[in-house]
Amino acid sequence: MAKQKTQFVCQNCGYISLKWMGRCPECNEWNTMVEEIIMPEDKIQEQISLLKPPAIAVDLEKVDLKEEERIKTGINEFDRVLGGGIVPGSVVLIAGDPGVGKSTLMTQIVPGLKGKKVLYVTGEESVKQLKLRTERLNFPKSFQSKNFLVLAETNLNLVINVIEEVNPDIIIIDSIQTMYRPELESAPGSVSQVRECASVLMQLAKNTGKSILLVGHVTKDGLIAGPKVLEHMVDTVLQFEGERHQAYRILRAVKNRFGSTNEIGIFEMTTEGLKEVKNPSEIFLSERTFGVSGSSVVACIEGTRPLLVEVQALVTPASYGTPQRTSIGFDYHRLSVLLAVLEKKVGVRLSGNDVFIKIVGGLRIDEPAIDLGVVTAIVSSLKDIPVDSQSVVVGEVGLAGEVRSVTQIEKRIQESAKLGFKKIIIPKNNTRGLKIDAEIEIVGVRKVNQALEELLNI
Ligand code: TYD
Ligand code: MG
Repeated sequence: MAKQKTQFVCQNCGYISLKWMGRCPECNEWNTMVEEIIMPEDKIQEQISLLKPPAIAVDLEKVDLKEEERIKTGINEFDRVLGGGIVPGSVVLIAGDPGVGKSTLMTQIVPGLKGKKVLYVTGEESVKQLKLRTERLNFPKSFQSKNFLVLAETNLNLVINVIEEVNPDIIIIDSIQTMYRPELESAPGSVSQVRECASVLMQLAKNTGKSILLVGHVTKDGLIAGPKVLEHMVDTVLQFEGERHQAYRILRAVKNRFGSTNEIGIFEMTTEGLKEVKNPSEIFLSERTFGVSGSSVVACIEGTRPLLVEVQALVTPASYGTPQRTSIGFDYHRLSVLLAVLEKKVGVRLSGNDVFIKIVGGLRIDEPAIDLGVVTAIVSSLKDIPVDSQSVVVGEVGLAGEVRSVTQIEKRIQESAKLGFKKIIIPKNNTRGLKIDAEIEIVGVRKVNQALEELLNI
């Protein structure tokens, strides 16, 4: 018998090497190279009829471009992040840490998929456990369970047989890491298995027009393939984020072939499952403390929606030689740049201080429009002067200490006025030609100094 050939595959990024290495040269993760048997191609290729597309070249002129109707789930936040609903024939990956609520979300969309047959393939829970969850989630009385089939199976070949038999419109695979093809000898959850299972499902979706929702775990644990290897295969990647200890969950599109990628959906985890958050700004500001230093309110835009959030800063004397800089929910490098601008252009000494920044509510904001808010919170904490609690601040900070204009200023102003703020500090350039009907004082500033004067009275 011929000796079995093996290779080492990085379980984080899918990098392949012929010899073992302690650290993956591609993604720099340690201890992620796992030995897997190389399967001869022909053995993998014996496949099921559903997966064999007719190899016919098509005349482009005959391709129908009629907008395919999207399938609405009835959970608006979910539909919006997808770009208006599930596209038939698409594969969506829902990735997130264990326990964040992926299975809950997948179960909750079922009652809304009216008239569609759903097959829920569960590789992690038993059918009983799933039933218990549906009880807990209070499915509406009108929900007809004959259109909701559950299959507890992890062998993908058997799953595909069932798909052929019951012919569902939508297939939920929970999770892709538990699925395996017996033809491959690597363990379920290894990169080879995950990649193979996903590509089989991808083929199936494209050939049959069925939509597939894949649940994927994100974990640094070397044994389970991070969904990173799947990202380039699937049509849409939705990241489900949030602290397990906090009730808020954010669903973010990181890749979407059928919609915008900066849309987010906000949910709250309750005892009856996930609830959509209709007025996120109120929630993110609900625990604000007044009259303390180191806190400012910024107006950012997430997708198409304005969102008001609190930025907190803590500046303390550094106890060691090199001061610490930590940021949660805000880009670390951007924080370094802002601190340098404060030192050099605004004349605020910070080289002897530790600086901590946090975006409240578990949110992560990459928009430069919150720069001015971050800077304000830092100076407020350093000087121990509270920022005017009735003010919102918006603006990008340039390297010369100037305040640069931001997009969609009207939306930001309106949201601030709606939540009862009295004043908003915006870049001077944004005030030009600004026509807005909102009850709020608008102050345009050109320099960081001016903003600090307005907000901290210094
Ligand atoms: P789950 O959806 O199983 O997470 P995942 O599939 O991402 O691993 O649920 C995660 C957590 O949510 C679990 O710890 C229990 C909690 N939960 C609620 O708080 N309320 C509920 O109604 C449900 C169904 C779950
Ligand atoms: Mg789960």
